[in-house]
Amino acid sequence: MNYGHFDDKNKEYVITNPRTPVKWINYIGTLKFGGFVDHTGGALICKGDPSLNRIVKYIQQMPSSDFKGETLYLRLRQGENYKLFSPFFVPTLDHYDLYECHVGLGYNRIISEFYGIRTECTIFVPIDDIREIREIKITNETGKEIELDAISVVEYTHFDAMKQFNNADWVPQTMQSRCIREEKGLMTLIQYAFMRRETNVNFFTSNHPVSSFESDRKRFLGDNEYGKWSNPLSLQKKELGSYEAHRGDNIGVLLHHLGSFKPGQSKSFITQLGQEQSFEKARSGIEKYRDPDAVKKAYDELNGLWEEFLSRMQVETPDPALNSMLNIHNPRQCYITKNWSRYLSYYQLGIGTRGIGFRDSCQDVMGVISHIPEESKELLKKMMMVQRTNGSAMHSFNPLTMEGSKGETGDWPDRPQYYGDDHLWIVLAVITYLKETGDMKFLEEIIPYYDEKKDNRLRENGTVQDHLKRALDFTKNDKGEHSLPHLGFADWNDSVNLRTGAESLFNTHLYGKGLLEMIELCGYLGDTAGVIFYQSEYDGLKDMFNRTSWDGEWYVRYFDSDGTPVGSNKNRDGKIYINAQSWPLISGMALPERAKKSLDSLNRLLNTSKGIKISWPGFDGYDRNKGGGTTYPPGAKENGGIFLHTNPWVVIAEAIMGNGERAYEYYSQINPAAKNDIIEEYECEPYVYAQNILSDEHPQFGLGRNSWLTGTASWMYQAGTGFILGIRPDYKGLIIDPCIPKKWDGFKVTRKYKNAIYDIEVKNPGHRNKGVYRLEIDGREITGNIAPIFGDGKTHLITAIIE
Ligand code: GLC
Repeated sequence: MNYGHFDDKNKEYVITNPRTPVKWINYIGTLKFGGFVDHTGGALICKGDPSLNRIVKYIQQMPSSDFKGETLYLRLRQGENYKLFSPFFVPTLDHYDLYECHVGLGYNRIISEFYGIRTECTIFVPIDDIREIREIKITNETGKEIELDAISVVEYTHFDAMKQFNNADWVPQTMQSRCIREEKGLMTLIQYAFMRRETNVNFFTSNHPVSSFESDRKRFLGDNEYGKWSNPLSLQKKELGSYEAHRGDNIGVLLHHLGSFKPGQSKSFITQLGQEQSFEKARSGIEKYRDPDAVKKAYDELNGLWEEFLSRMQVETPDPALNSMLNIHNPRQCYITKNWSRYLSYYQLGIGTRGIGFRDSCQDVMGVISHIPEESKELLKKMMMVQRTNGSAMHSFNPLTMEGSKGETGDWPDRPQYYGDDHLWIVLAVITYLKETGDMKFLEEIIPYYDEKKDNRLRENGTVQDHLKRALDFTKNDKGEHSLPHLGFADWNDSVNLRTGAESLFNTHLYGKGLLEMIELCGYLGDTAGVIFYQSEYDGLKDMFNRTSWDGEWYVRYFDSDGTPVGSNKNRDGKIYINAQSWPLISGMALPERAKKSLDSLNRLLNTSKGIKISWPGFDGYDRNKGGGTTYPPGAKENGGIFLHTNPWVVIAEAIMGNGERAYEYYSQINPAAKNDIIEEYECEPYVYAQNILSDEHPQFGLGRNSWLTGTASWMYQAGTGFILGIRPDYKGLIIDPCIPKKWDGFKVTRKYKNAIYDIEVKNPGHRNKGVYRLEIDGREITGNIAPIFGDGKTHLITAIIE
């Protein structure tokens, strides 16, 4: 069973059945102005911080049968009465003859047919703009002449998303709406909270004359709100009350009499929902986008931007689901995570500020550095600005105010008040940027360290290189009983919170990988002292790791404060952890025999047909000494669930081992595009990765949740492009080091890199997994597997044969 299909040619996913298991969403605009739209036309729109400047009320937890945030009704004149329905299916739930939601890059287009009336509605935010546009075209296919009205609806929220839900006294007393009547029957509804009347005014308008409006929900629904969204009583009258709300639950409703439609006739109109300081300030933009040509231009520009974004890398392999993900949906998700971090999704409610996670954004940015290096660099700089002078980092920060926060350690005052991994991620992110761009001058850029007690100008400064050094130094000086890095409050796994003094093998490897990168960087820069310094630290760490952390069949994951191993066969629960097996390969610290054994143990004990579990067995009961993960039942999230972010690390580890079969199997078994026909089990959008899938320890094995905003996106992209296809940038050129299934005959990739286009063909005549030793470049053969830097703006043909 499926709810739609991929249309790669048009770079869309087309939902054809609106009764999806949960609402499926898509992002429009950016954090500056935008949010998400669902496949039934609902939308959550904000300007800037979603928790502090929210425009539309969208309550994820309410039933799917209701619209959320925005909708559209049509009504047909039938004698004295009206036949009312929504072309978005909800909230009227009428029988449809056609329903398609085209999930595109930066837009949704809903096409439906109800009662012989075809509606096409394209929803998007123009690039860098402050408005959501809905272009609506209605066609009479009834064969008869009809008379039709269109009613556009938005439900507002208080700008403070939290207050909307925890204060039903102050909030409704402050909400107000006004109507601005313009020429020729045009009209704009404005809405604000009283205290923001002079600063933040929401506007809702149309390019078609509006005969009446409503701004009070109670009046619109009628009968003291015993009227329903599926049949608002006010819509049985010719005109709405045109009431300007002085308080209460504010909505914006615009009634358009579209008049009579001859058979086959179409009519269109455009609505805009946005926010400006005042109506006066908004006026010229409103007028501009009342013109369909301006809307078309903005829509074409948006498509052009995505075209350019995706053109950085395009692949052609024997696997359509992989192609679809790597060419369209995965890079799009990477961009969305880079932009929205963990702010706002169908699952991340953006209520109460959490801001941008330091570790999350460091990893997100790694997925888009090759596409948008400049934007990525800006984010890298911001992140270094919340690094403290001792090299550690704030757990999260608000990118608008640059205020840092310590994370969720507060509920656990007896645990360390910092995370042991955060700061280390910046090393990997900056190195990825350097290898992609060659912008080595960035290392010399001066960036202040974070100090909440000091004004910006008085803060200590350091070069980017110094920021990286201090990050590594922090961990160098923060080790426990086995001379391995401390866990802190948590490492990457937020929810294992052991007692103070515990050590983390994840931090060990993340630190080890950072050291490896610094050794390589110092070598490239000719800094011999640097190489020696980092190499000796790396060697000591590797030695300590190998002396302490082998459990016999696999590697342990932590040492608790009293030195007992966690993630050991000796434990009753949580005997084996995924990251403890994959990361020793990434850090290069695993001994070859153990690497193989540990990945085999992982395969035997953690792998399922729907993804690899984070750990096993799940803890069957809350255990404060183990931490937040034990709040979940076994098989869910960090308690033995399939926590997808960890899976691409195993893909990478298997690729490093040269095991192309397993790398591909692990990649494919969680590829949502490959689940399209069994999606009723997985439930989430088949065009994005989810954060987690319930594992075989849970009765609902296979159910996905928390789609969109997850580090899975960036790492699946890195694993797919950089380790299965094996195309990854290095200081000296583009490495071509594929690790593919034997059955593949080869594949093709077009990759833009340092101002040249690399047209790569990998051939696999011997049906092997791995092994490129020479390349043919524009007809000339070279040894090795690094395509050089051309930088000449030209296209170069590169052939690699796996032998
Ligand atoms: C969530 C957090 C991320 C963390 C992961 C594992 O995805 O956003 O920071 O690493 O959970 O606990």
